[in-house]
Parts: sequence; structure tokens; C-alpha cells
Amino acid sequence: MGNYTLGIIKPDAISKNYTGKIIDRLLNSGFKIVAARLEHLSREQAKQFYAVHKERPFFNDLINFMTSGPCLPFVIEHENAVENFRKIIGATNPAEAAKGTIRRDFAESIQNNAVHGSDSDKNAEKEIAFFFIPSQIHTV
Ligand code: RTP
Ligand code: MG
Repeated sequence: MGNYTLGIIKPDAISKNYTGKIIDRLLNSGFKIVAARLEHLSREQAKQFYAVHKERPFFNDLINFMTSGPCLPFVIEHENAVENFRKIIGATNPAEAAKGTIRRDFAESIQNNAVHGSDSDKNAEKEIAFFFIPSQIHTV
């Protein structure tokens, strides 16, 4: 299992000033931030990032949402990072997310769900490279 994953604080959570609370959660869960940058995605970038969903009925809404304001992509370090981060994020739909998860506490809806987390080591590697060059990733 890999030690790194890519997360994003999505535009809904940024605009509601949940950034600090979400970062506090992940630090308190033992994750270490090794890269982060506020970024307002272009439509092209958002479409590329979520290309796997391009045939889904919600794709256009998802792109509108992800480009509605700045988001905060970050790389975090933890043993078995992908799985452990998805565990503290909770289910895609906040109504189904377990108690104490980030989405349960900060998400508005199945779309405006506060955070992203890579879903496999392979995708984590791709998504990290999508946002950061190696010199921007501060591992020791
Ligand atoms: P993410 O990729 O953002 O970490 O979320 P996820 O794995 O839990 O969910 P995924 O199936 O990959 O969906 C990506 C994002 O698309 C939006 N979505 N909207 N309206 C809908 O039914 C719907 N379903 C998904 C969410 O923002 C979801 O996180
Ligand atoms: Mg996903």
C-alpha cells in the first residue's frame, strides 16, 4: 500500500470556511501534509481530472461545481494513505456517511460533498502528478 494520496477541499467547503476544520481533522488523524495549493480550476482542468465520469448524467453539474470557486488540492502522507483517508472522508453521499466523517459533518449534498480523495494507489499517483511537480512535494 502506498504512503501518499491526493485530496481536494472542494469549492463548497472553501466558501463555507471549513478549510481549517477539515485540515485539523486530517492532521489529528495522523496524516502529514506534504504539498498544498489553492487553485481555481479551469473547465478544461476539471474535465480532465474527472474524465472517468464524462459519460455520467451528473458530469456537467460536477464540472460547474468544481469550477465555481477555488479548491485546495493537497498531498498527504500516512501508512495505507488512500484507504485511510477515504475512511475519514466517509461515503460520497453525506446522508450515508458514517458519524464523525468529514462528509457527514461538512458536506451539503452528494455533489457538494466537501472533499475528494483518490480511490486507488494508481489513481493517487496520477492525481498527485496532475497538481504537483516533484519539487513542490515536501517529503523527507
Ligand atoms: P471523489 O472522487 O470526489 O473523491 O468522490 P467519490 O469517489 O466518493 O465519488 P465519485 O463516484 O468518484 O464521484 C465524483 C464526484 O462527483 C459528484 N457526484 N455527483 N449528482 C450525483 O449523483 C453525483 N454523484 C457523484 C460528487 O462531487 C462526487 O464526489
Ligand atoms: Mg472518486
